[in-house]
Amino acid sequence: MRHKSRHKGPVITMLWNTALEVKTRVAVGAGARTKLSGTLAQIGAGKHVLVLCQHSAAVHWLRDVLSQLPAEDYQVTTLEVPDGDSCKTTDWLIRIWDHLQERGFSRQDSIVALGGGSVSDLAGFAAATYMRGLNLVVVPTSLLAQVDASIGGKNAINLPQGKNLAGTFYFPKAVLADQELLATVPKAQLMSGVAEILKYALIEETVAKHSDYEKGPKPIIEILEGVINDGFDVEDPQVAGLITSCIKMKLFVVARDPKDINLRRVLNLGHTLGHALESAGEFKLSHGEAVGVGIVHAAKLAVTLKKLPKAELERIKDILFKAELPMEIPAKTPKEKLIASMELDKKREGDKIKLILPDGKLGTVDYDYSMPISDLGKLV
Ligand SMILES: NC(=O)c1ccc[n+]([C@@H]2O[C@H](COP(=O)([O-])OP(=O)(O)OC[C@H]3O[C@@H](n4cnc5c(N)ncnc54)[C@H](O)[C@@H]3O)[C@@H](O)[C@H]2O)c1
Repeated sequence: MRHKSRHKGPVITMLWNTALEVKTRVAVGAGARTKLSGTLAQIGAGKHVLVLCQHSAAVHWLRDVLSQLPAEDYQVTTLEVPDGDSCKTTDWLIRIWDHLQERGFSRQDSIVALGGGSVSDLAGFAAATYMRGLNLVVVPTSLLAQVDASIGGKNAINLPQGKNLAGTFYFPKAVLADQELLATVPKAQLMSGVAEILKYALIEETVAKHSDYEKGPKPIIEILEGVINDGFDVEDPQVAGLITSCIKMKLFVVARDPKDINLRRVLNLGHTLGHALESAGEFKLSHGEAVGVGIVHAAKLAVTLKKLPKAELERIKDILFKAELPMEIPAKTPKEKLIASMELDKKREGDKIKLILPDGKLGTVDYDYSMPISDLGKLV
């Protein structure tokens, strides 16, 4: 499909540095994808470019993105992977390595990930491991990938034993988060991204307190409540503003703690139960849906522990209800499988697990709450 960029909003470009001295160029805004060729030139990329694209995103956007890469400058090949988590496998990883090897890719060459978070995860792992590192540029096409998955340098594939069990920290050289790409995202997928925006809304005060992130005049939670009440239109400038705020928040958190040792844990709000739900339910819930259920259960536990007033839990449930996102663990999910899966969580430390719990009011979290593994049943 051919699309015309409307260039409605400014494209904000940030050069972002982590404590590991890794630099990522991040462009956010309508039309950001048109910077692809210039970005590859800026990072000194070699001639070979593999565009790793996801089926549904490719249908709408592959031609457009390929048109950004002039044949006189780049030798472009494409590889299309299936939608969803079914591409995050060792089989696909090996197919990508084979593709790169057969076409003579060297370390100056690049992988461009075009799709949702499952593709950026797979592309990141492939780029990190082939010849110990190719250039990685991410063009996230889903809301969830724009606000979360494409930022921060984590990648992973799934193993039969659990989700995201094999992966690396490997920072993209650039991320081009273009809101025009969201025009073709199905409603349910868009709402899946809303669950991650809710996560950012619930951690905003804590992030502002412990990093260089600066809050705007209005808390994200209130902006989110407003745009959800108005039907969440991706063309609404307030939605574009929310996306930029979430990206900035993640960049500042990761800059402070790239390797997930302390502050970065805030980003896991709702994810301990969320990842277990995805694994135990064999991915019938999308990532965002599972995170939404995880957030509600973390908030319920916070209410039980008298850390959060019940009225604040109701605000969370109201947002999820209006976004048509699930709040309850699906009835047929085996509880013992869920608990076993949470026991494998990467935040486990011996016989305890660190949970992130809303604390006092929406926007603030306790990210140092230790729960004995034997108590995990309380979360389900
Ligand atoms: N590495 C990280 O930091 C991180 C963070 C959060 C999530 N994740 C991972 O991200 C994945 C979830 O990401 P997701 O929600 O983007 O799911 P996804 O990648 O499965 O994409 C969701 C669906 O939307 C379709 N789609 C995407 N963009 C589209 C577009 N513009 N038009 C039409 N259809 C489009 C896809 O083809 C797919 O069917 C999970 O695997 C999760 O583990 C990683």
